Amino acid sequence: MDKYSQSGLHQSWQIGDLPWQAFDADKISPDLLAIVKAAALVEYNAEDYATYLANIFSQDEGFCEDIRQWAVEEKQHGEALGAWAMRADTAFDFATASARYKAGYRINIDAKTSIRGSEAGELIARCIVETGTSSYYTVMGNATEEPVLKALCQRITADELRHYKLFFGHLQTYIAREKIGRLKRLAIGLGRVQESEDDELAFAYYAANAPLDAVYDRASYTSAYMARAYPLYRAGNIERVVAMVFRACGITLSTFWRKAITAVATLIMKIKLRRVQMHAAATI
Ligand SMILES: [Fe+2]
Ligand SMILES: [Fe+2]
Repeated sequence: MDKYSQSGLHQSWQIGDLPWQAFDADKISPDLLAIVKAAALVEYNAEDYATYLANIFSQDEGFCEDIRQWAVEEKQHGEALGAWAMRADTAFDFATASARYKAGYRINIDAKTSIRGSEAGELIARCIVETGTSSYYTVMGNATEEPVLKALCQRITADELRHYKLFFGHLQTYIAREKIGRLKRLAIGLGRVQESEDDELAFAYYAANAPLDAVYDRASYTSAYMARAYPLYRAGNIERVVAMVFRACGITLSTFWRKAITAVATLIMKIKLRRVQMHAAATI
């Protein structure tokens, strides 16, 4: 049954709705399991982002209400992915891994202004994150034949696309107020894309998968994560990402430019994948 917040955002599913009775241990891929565990930790950490966003947008009560509901949904993504991972790997303890992640990776929840320089900049960055997550769960769902994970990815993907729309909608209000140009917006957007190689995902991969005595190293765990995630993407997935990223920056691409930029992005991903596969093979 759908649940609606005061703002109209809906939480359309519960963990108990998933087809757990159809769980099939024979269809678990170890590589997918490793990145599902990492994703669970990042999603579950959404409360810190909600605190950060609520500080920045404290004057906008309507948006703060949306942020609270958004955090509930993101946290549920973490709980559901964690529950699936524990079913798939009985040695995995989601609570312990989550505590390990939180102990080593913190965002600045005391900030009162956006690290992006403005509220609009913050919302562009949020749109980029939701672009990334919606595409990630799309490719994960396509890659697995395990029925529960497939169903879960479909539900999360729908949520992430709705989150993109939520932040994009609020972005229009702040863009009208701040009037920042498209080039500046593009710089913020592409900057956030680049940040996907920062510690957040690499450290989550480490916290979820590395032995307790392993020492964290960003390059090694970025490689380990990318080597498992990048091969899941097809040209159509990348094209969608390109369109959504540019749209968040106020640019609607023609078919020619969308295809051209997709070709470049695909090439960059292939080069990075080649590099990280060599690195991962050498180190992990
Ligand atoms: Fe999420
Ligand atoms: Fe989201």
